[in-house]
Amino acid sequence: MADTQSISLKKKLQGKVAIVTGGAGGIGEAAARLFAEHGALAVVIADIQAEKGQSVAESIGLQRCSYVQCDVADEEQVKSMVEWTVKTYGGLDIMFSNAGILGSSDQTILDLDLSQYDAVMRVNARGMAVCVKQVAGKMTELGTKGAIVCTSSAVVVTAVPTFPDYTMSKHAVLGLVRAASQQLGAHGIRINCVSPSALMTPLVAKGGLTAGDLQKMIDPWTSLKGVALTAEHVAEAALFLASDESVFITGHNLVVDGGLKGSIG
Ligand SMILES: NC(=O)c1ccc[n+]([C@@H]2O[C@H](COP(=O)([O-])OP(=O)(O)OC[C@H]3O[C@@H](n4cnc5c(N)ncnc54)[C@H](O)[C@@H]3O)[C@@H](O)[C@H]2O)c1
Repeated sequence: MADTQSISLKKKLQGKVAIVTGGAGGIGEAAARLFAEHGALAVVIADIQAEKGQSVAESIGLQRCSYVQCDVADEEQVKSMVEWTVKTYGGLDIMFSNAGILGSSDQTILDLDLSQYDAVMRVNARGMAVCVKQVAGKMTELGTKGAIVCTSSAVVVTAVPTFPDYTMSKHAVLGLVRAASQQLGAHGIRINCVSPSALMTPLVAKGGLTAGDLQKMIDPWTSLKGVALTAEHVAEAALFLASDESVFITGHNLVVDGGLKGSIG
């Protein structure tokens, strides 16, 4: 019992400097809070929602959490945000590259709106590539054996009848992680994916779904009963991949889906 307690209370990110993209809400906010609870020296929330981002940073505590306005798809903004982090906190150990958007809800390939496709790919695929490029570049320059965690989705291990643009963008994230893991390993930098199934966050709420609707929709496909996936569950998986507990894991896709039926991963 004492052992279990000491393991659960262990601070896993003591002294580390972390960036969390999309940290103004949902999964990113839960991760920013959890990283701070786990002793991170600093957590930088990079997001486009200034008011929400600032308020999350203030509630965590401005001595160890900052908000930086940053569009992940804009390379100059990401570069400045990374420079600012290193200058302000003296290093950079972790990035949770998590910002993402969902396109319009019920399109299929037959009625694919290409401007929507471009918008989704811009944030989810290009944004992820920009963040990994800039952060890995900085870690390499500093000689930091850091950890990068990217948010993909359970859509990469199962087929869904809608969202072809979103599904493609999340496969791009997995492809990036697999390729980059081969290239960054030589520098001692680990990169992994966390892939949740559907959970209630502002991203899903925007589509007009309630928590009840979502539960009804996802429950028949979920093997594990009696637990509803939360942002905190996903944040715990990201924490594992960001911490030294996963020191020999890279290029991995950690699916957080309660055993999705029909999963091919
Ligand atoms: N909620 C789900 O069901 C679910 C399932 C699987 C994967 N995901 C993924 O999880 C990640 C987090 O999503 P969430 O559900 O917490 O949604 P969310 O909408 O609560 O959070 C996404 C955050 O990303 C930010 N963001 C959007 N565009 C940005 C940009 N260009 N630059 C910087 N920040 C930007 C938003 O402002 C927001 O704070 C996303 O990548 C999403 O695709 C979500």
